[in-house]
Amino acid sequence: MTLSPDFTILALETSCDETAAAVVRDGQVILSNVVASQMDMHRRYGGIVPEVASRQHILSLTPVVEEALVALPDGWEGIHAVAATYGPGLSGALLTGLNGAKAMAWRRGLPFIGVNHLDAHIYANWLIPTNQTHSQSAPQFPLVALVVSGGHTLLALLRNHGNYHLLGQTRDDAAGEAFDKVARILGLGYPGGPAIQQAATGVQMADPLPRAWLRDSYDFSFSGLKTAVLHAVQDARARHTNSTPRHRMRKPHLATTAQSVSDNADAPLTADEIAHLALAFQDSVVDVLVSKTIAAAQEFAATEILLAGGVAANMHLRSELTRRATIPVRYPPIQLCTDNAAMIAAAAYYRFAAGVQSGWDLDVVPGLRLGM
Ligand code: KG4
Ligand code: ZN
Repeated sequence: MTLSPDFTILALETSCDETAAAVVRDGQVILSNVVASQMDMHRRYGGIVPEVASRQHILSLTPVVEEALVALPDGWEGIHAVAATYGPGLSGALLTGLNGAKAMAWRRGLPFIGVNHLDAHIYANWLIPTNQTHSQSAPQFPLVALVVSGGHTLLALLRNHGNYHLLGQTRDDAAGEAFDKVARILGLGYPGGPAIQQAATGVQMADPLPRAWLRDSYDFSFSGLKTAVLHAVQDARARHTNSTPRHRMRKPHLATTAQSVSDNADAPLTADEIAHLALAFQDSVVDVLVSKTIAAAQEFAATEILLAGGVAANMHLRSELTRRATIPVRYPPIQLCTDNAAMIAAAAYYRFAAGVQSGWDLDVVPGLRLGM
């Protein structure tokens, strides 16, 4: 189906801890992109609390949609379709945005398009960054896409719009989840990705940590690396404790679960030790992600590599992939890497153009897989 060049979609995204609404024209021009983050609310728990997230989405949804619509002089009159994420994500959180979007579309007689959050992260690469005045060429198929977020890590081959082949995925922790857990072990707070990147900045070299290559597979594994960081922390603390004068020594405390080392008054790590471990961890994750992505791009003769998801905001990942790849590497600006609704609108545009429209009975699918 050929859509008119002013075809405008209002999209909602509530799969996790961001309440977002965006208005996007022609699948690529962002007219508004509003994100209400619940980060501060979840930070005090060290992670996302699903019930708190759902309640907050209900409170934020209407103001966020109203703010997004301000970009259109005629408001709702300028909207041609409504889209929302239906999975994967937290079921209660997904329900708020999906039902809100269906109600808005139904009430105004507009088509409704349910969107897969993982596909949408990839489609952030079709959006024209707002600071860019001219449109650059759209990504060319076949593409290899690396999606690295808080909940997912996967490598996919895209032969065309809607034609996805999953090449590999994580067997345990997602890359972003590993960043978040290791940041917690190092006492760096939540969300872990930006904190680890920041802590590692300025450190030149660190003793390397192991890499899980899982040879002959495009799958990933990060839980062993997380354990290696925990052991390195325990070793460092033991060294500190042993070098503490006897009269100041207390009973050594060995952590068996991910816990903040700064919480432990016995033998806190120095800022230098934390920075070196942050660098070694980041290097290890990035090395495996980049090596497998480049190998997949070569095997399937991809014309471009697309990077997507919250971890795609990582500067070291961006620069290493670009430096080592022999084909163009594309990644969205940072604000379009983390969860937003503009990417939902971009994915919805290509689904709708391909003739896909969702029924009013579409339900949330918390475990939705790529390309479904
Ligand atoms: O895509 P996203 O916003 O939400 C999910 O769909 O999961 O990704 C959030 C994840 C978090 O785990 C966060 O720590 C990570 O992205 N992240 C980063 C960086 N910025 C965000 N990881 C590494 N380096 C960053 N600069
Ligand atoms: Zn996401």
